[in-house]
Amino acid sequence: MTITLHAELGNLQPLDLDAGSVFNGTPSGRTVSGYSGPCSYTPSPDPDYIFHETSRDVIVWLMNSSDPLYVFGPTGSGKTSLIKQLAARLNYPVFEVTGHSRLEFPDLVGHLSVRDGNMEFQYGPLALAMRFGGLFLLNEIDLLEPATATLELPL
Ligand SMILES: Nc1ncnc2c1ncn2[C@@H]1O[C@H](COP(=O)(O)OP(=O)(O)O)[C@@H](O)[C@H]1O
Ligand SMILES: [Mg+2]
Repeated sequence: MTITLHAELGNLQPLDLDAGSVFNGTPSGRTVSGYSGPCSYTPSPDPDYIFHETSRDVIVWLMNSSDPLYVFGPTGSGKTSLIKQLAARLNYPVFEVTGHSRLEFPDLVGHLSVRDGNMEFQYGPLALAMRFGGLFLLNEIDLLEPATATLELPL
């Protein structure tokens, strides 16, 4: 399972896509980087999803993301779906976690486990995203213990 997942993620082919074609169906000549096709962690596109003008800010971040992006707003205002629908159109895998008070750093990074009598490091969602060029989406970050949230942010 781990081996097939890593093989699948390792096979993702980066590709420059036309932003207009991807987001509103009309070619714009502006390219955005994505992948050539979806994988099992790519969210499904929602055909009814509407990309608001402000989506562009998130795309700009995605193209130059050296810092994490913090999206805030009321429940139901579209934070999670914006990230997932951008990822769906650009074929990014999304490793998604919902915060809770007992979530600890190893849950995100990974841990050693026994497999066929051998110790093996099992990648957590954060490590998978970093290793394979995906997005790590942490919902409800305010529910994390501060110690976990602080360790997680300075990537
Ligand atoms: N731009 C949009 N176009 C269509 N549906 C949207 C849009 N933004 C949000 N929604 C819908 O609204 C609902 C709540 O959005 P969600 O992203 O879960 O909010 P949040 O993460 O801020 O709580 C979802 O069912 C989502 O599909
Ligand atoms: Mg959400």
